[in-house]
Amino acid sequence: MHELIEKLCSGAELTQSEWLRVLDERRGADDEELFARARAVREKYYGREIFTRGLIEFTNYCKNDCRYCGIRRSSAAVHRYRLTEEEILSCCESGYALGFRTFVLQGGEDPYWTDARLVPLIEQMRRRWPDCAITLSLGERSRESYEKLYAAGANRYLLRHETADAEHYRLLHPPEMSFANRRRCLRDLKDIGYQVGAGFMVGSPGQTNLCLAKDMVFLQELKPHMVGIGPFIPQHDTPFAKEKAGTAELTLFLLALIRLMLPRVLLPATTALGTIDPRGREKGILAGANVVMPNLSPVNVRGDYQLYDNKICTGEEAAECRGCLERRIASVGCTLSQSRGDFLER
Ligand code: 5AD
Ligand code: FES
Repeated sequence: MHELIEKLCSGAELTQSEWLRVLDERRGADDEELFARARAVREKYYGREIFTRGLIEFTNYCKNDCRYCGIRRSSAAVHRYRLTEEEILSCCESGYALGFRTFVLQGGEDPYWTDARLVPLIEQMRRRWPDCAITLSLGERSRESYEKLYAAGANRYLLRHETADAEHYRLLHPPEMSFANRRRCLRDLKDIGYQVGAGFMVGSPGQTNLCLAKDMVFLQELKPHMVGIGPFIPQHDTPFAKEKAGTAELTLFLLALIRLMLPRVLLPATTALGTIDPRGREKGILAGANVVMPNLSPVNVRGDYQLYDNKICTGEEAAECRGCLERRIASVGCTLSQSRGDFLER
């Protein structure tokens, strides 16, 4: 095992240049031992329970134009949809019956969903399912907006930082977006009291080991409650259509390092990982992940929410995904939990 990974296991923080060495000096032969250590850390805190979140992709309208993303505003081919409040609540209702205790409202940055529309929706969800966590994933908003949504009853917010290298950030995003504002959003969210999820894509165009080292330092400092990472996968209608996808191997390596760096973190084995490798999510769990996020969206809109090509589960009903995941998780010696799966503070 690399001496710096030993150092990480002992609870020490690594500097950017140390992270860079960990990445540059990675020897695939050591991965199995690394994964075993990451699993042991996960089990120490969370046992063999895997938490689940029901994802409701409630709008694919987006005002942003991120170069990697299939629902960017320039994608004229995308059929745009927006679920109604009734449709969203009925997703929650069926999700609750299936055992979900976290609902994730995820969407593009859709100007239709103002605070005035979101607040009553969140309040209703809070009233009807008081025992559930409400997670938002709506992109960049003002601090005031984040405060109102929190006061309405939201508990968690997912906002991947995407990359902690400012220049790389500019390569991936349109000129009106900046890493500085992204970081501002994440700090505001944490400050307000949300459980916060950050994260990045693995193998995105222009990503170097230095970018990844900066990502690790950023996460080490931010200490988010959740970290979502998955391979970049090209989408045929974006400027990155011809770029190479990230690999499952590097994603698994990073998952394990994140588990060691932030021992109590909630770490999803993502749909993107399950898309580039048919056993990607199982392998993710074996590398220290402890969350899965199946889709609760109505089947008729799933095909329209394709951030990348060949996304799995776009034809399955929520119940099918739940059953499928239960079997997959059992195959790696774990169980699917019915609890909210909050971050363990201590
Ligand atoms: N490949 C993989 N992940 C992607 N995301 C967006 N587009 C892609 C893609 N082409 C990720 C981003 C975003 C999250 C919701 O999905 O990291 O934050
Ligand atoms: Fe959706 Fe397997 S998780 S079908």
